[in-house]
Amino acid sequence: MEGEKLGGVCLNKGCIPSKTLIATATLYDKMKEADSFGINLGTSPVYDWSAMINRKDKIVSMLVGGIGQLFKSHGVDHIEGYGKITGKNEVTVVAEDGTEIKLKADNIIVATGSRSRNLPTFPIDGTRILTSDHMLQAESLPKSIIIIGAGVIGCEWACLLSMLDVEVTVVEMLDHALPLEDAGVAKVFERELKKKKITLYTKTSVDKVEPGPEGVQAILSNGKTIQGNQILVAVGRAFNTEEIGLEDVGVKLNRNGSIPTNNQMRTNIKNIYAIGDVRGEILLAYTAVHDGSIAVDTILGEKVKKNYAGVPSVIFTSPEVASVGMTEQSASEKHEITIGKFPMRTLGKAHAENEISGEVKMIADKKTDKLLGVHIVGAHATEIIHTAALAINRGLTATQVGALTFGHPVISESIMEAAHDIHGLSVHLAKKKR
Ligand code: NAI
Repeated sequence: MEGEKLGGVCLNKGCIPSKTLIATATLYDKMKEADSFGINLGTSPVYDWSAMINRKDKIVSMLVGGIGQLFKSHGVDHIEGYGKITGKNEVTVVAEDGTEIKLKADNIIVATGSRSRNLPTFPIDGTRILTSDHMLQAESLPKSIIIIGAGVIGCEWACLLSMLDVEVTVVEMLDHALPLEDAGVAKVFERELKKKKITLYTKTSVDKVEPGPEGVQAILSNGKTIQGNQILVAVGRAFNTEEIGLEDVGVKLNRNGSIPTNNQMRTNIKNIYAIGDVRGEILLAYTAVHDGSIAVDTILGEKVKKNYAGVPSVIFTSPEVASVGMTEQSASEKHEITIGKFPMRTLGKAHAENEISGEVKMIADKKTDKLLGVHIVGAHATEIIHTAALAINRGLTATQVGALTFGHPVISESIMEAAHDIHGLSVHLAKKKR
């Protein structure tokens, strides 16, 4: 059963709507460089935010309808309403009009996901202080915005809004933007934020927000007060585990409200499983799909277990950031490592596309040559990372990746070149002293 539209956060409030808006913003941003491509537009490009929102809504509703069709074709019943576990083998669904249906089941899978985390310090009001859900439905864009949190959502919105000419300031309490990414690669990304004139405060938290002369102001831990028309709060997610009957049947929760499971997605109650964000391990739609198939295969009696080896991180900033495997810091705690790097500006295709920012950083074990991590900042990073993901998933070495003949000219040649650079053998980089 589903209490809202089919497709969850990813389709309705996350991945798909944001990437649809990012596609328009990227095109608009590219059009500003038309001259350098030899195109005279005759006038400056102008975007229409409400038309962008309409396009996004159309795409989302088409895909939501697609899920409905797939359900029919695969014989899945869709019951509209809010589900609550009312027994180890029973779920009660309450429809909008209050009618109740009781369903019996041998097994139950909880896939209730997560929502934007609200902190009392940042009272969300939907007009001045917003979450990304509000941004996706905004009637217009502000001239300036303060974004609290430089995690994935904060950075994606910072780049999207900056491409649409909004003045953006981001405040992050940890050491660098995208704190879960490799620190060196995050520094490369931060330089790109600076080029976009996005102001970033790191190692700084927002202590308080209040009305200000431009709309709102944020009081920072460094003593500064910064101004904006609006504030976007992107400080993580909360888990949808309240009021769905979990405690009543004895399902244990973590302190942060997520549901612990074993590698088969089983909770502490044998026939109740949990998958996706609600487990709190990785908050990604694509790992949720993996979790789902592990839970179903387990229910069907197969011997399977969770395997996240080679799951990439794909971040739709400008430029994009993508990674797979260990960061330099985590790899060097367990291995003696070598690092190969290849700057995008060395690629012919990057120049052809006017996308020369960023680099590929590859980390391998010095003794075995096995790839441990690959980190990319640059155009198409979210697409080309999958070559590296396959390599890490299959335990390949840098030599094996470098031995693959890549097409030319393509951006993914940077992966082959970084693999060669691990051994100081990239012919497209100046010769290294060995
Ligand atoms: P996040 O946990 O990635 O980032 C939140 C950031 O806010 C952290 O860096 C944290 O240090 C900072 N922060 C918290 N309180 C603060 C304060 N008072 N002042 C300043 N900074 C503060 O959470 P986010 O960005 O909300 O994303 C949620 C989840 O959604 C993530 O797990 C992410 O993986 C997922 N997501 C994935 C996307 C993708 O794969 N492309 C896109 C969007 C979201």
